[in-house]
Amino acid sequence: MNIFITGTAGFIGSFLAEALAKQGHQIYGIDSINDYYDINLKKARLKKGGIHNPSYNQEITSSTLPNYRFRQIDLCDNEQLENIFQNNHFDCIINLAAQAGVRYSLQNPQAYIHSNIEGFINLLECCRLHQCSHFIYASSSSVYGNSSHTPFNETERVDQPISLYAATKKSNELMAYTYSHLYGIQTIGLRFFTVYGPYGRPDMAPILFANAIKNKQPIRIFNNGNLSRDFTYIDDIIEGIIKITEHPEQASQNTTDAPAVVYNIGHGSPTPLMEFIHTLEKYLNQEAQKEFIEMQPGDVYQTWADTRKLKQDFKYTPSTPLEEGIKQFTEWHKNFYK
Ligand SMILES: NC(=O)c1ccc[n+]([C@@H]2O[C@H](COP(=O)([O-])OP(=O)(O)OC[C@H]3O[C@@H](n4cnc5c(N)ncnc54)[C@H](O)[C@@H]3O)[C@@H](O)[C@H]2O)c1
Repeated sequence: MNIFITGTAGFIGSFLAEALAKQGHQIYGIDSINDYYDINLKKARLKKGGIHNPSYNQEITSSTLPNYRFRQIDLCDNEQLENIFQNNHFDCIINLAAQAGVRYSLQNPQAYIHSNIEGFINLLECCRLHQCSHFIYASSSSVYGNSSHTPFNETERVDQPISLYAATKKSNELMAYTYSHLYGIQTIGLRFFTVYGPYGRPDMAPILFANAIKNKQPIRIFNNGNLSRDFTYIDDIIEGIIKITEHPEQASQNTTDAPAVVYNIGHGSPTPLMEFIHTLEKYLNQEAQKEFIEMQPGDVYQTWADTRKLKQDFKYTPSTPLEEGIKQFTEWHKNFYK
């Protein structure tokens, strides 16, 4: 398949581009390589996929995967997006580029409108204008807000987002539905649940905590540690996305008038935050200095994926045990931040 992937300098996108290229697919990746967090980490992810020295709007072919091309552009650069779509035909678009992060959406709401709303509609338009039949995109467990109906099921009403980040992800699901309805494009939204692993995001708890533990600085634990997350290992997320990308016909259709569907992709079992920290301490071989503080605005108390729909349609459930995932993550962390 010819696949267009956005966000390939990002955590999930970098692994996905490499994995799909290794499966033999033709991959075209883009990313703006913005400085929301350390761009050296983004460049290191590109480098592991054979993409060296990116510069704006320059197409690079991977030195290790000849069927993987990359171009640094912004989702809102319509001229360059159009240029790519005029010169290539894609069977599928996978949109992982976004302004991520719940807390940052309180400080810089405009960044979320730029990438997650304007960028998202640009891609849907590319899909429509260039007859691309499948559109797969990252949604988020944050659409469930502070729902107390656990585990979170896709049939639940999700119209009470408690951060602008979550509101943009819910908006994406609505926009995708509309394009499915109007133009018959198959859209598949993936609600990811706290993804962790090597090359993970430095604004998320695993790396924030691991960095602090290593540097003997206190870790800030919100809501006095009374939180739980459905931590999901990166390899499981990638395996799930590949199954969906290669067999989109297996996706069940919610309604008869639009080929639009959303799936939870999560481990399916919440881990209390303190248990997560203790496992990190065990594999980093060092105790954390803990600073307990109050709940942060926009944060949710728990996440827990009901994964039955994914299992029913694709015979797949993420299964890497937390201990195994943390072991892999801490081994990478020790080497990368030497
Ligand atoms: N990691 C998680 O736990 C998690 C959980 C739920 C949802 N998600 C969603 O999954 C997707 C991937 O997440 P991630 O953890 O890999 O995030 P990430 O921040 O590591 O990757 C996103 C990439 O998108 C790029 N980007 C942002 N705005 C862009 C724009 N306007 N044009 C081009 N590129 C742009 C960034 O430079 C970044 O490299 C995101 O949509 C995120 O919201 C992630």
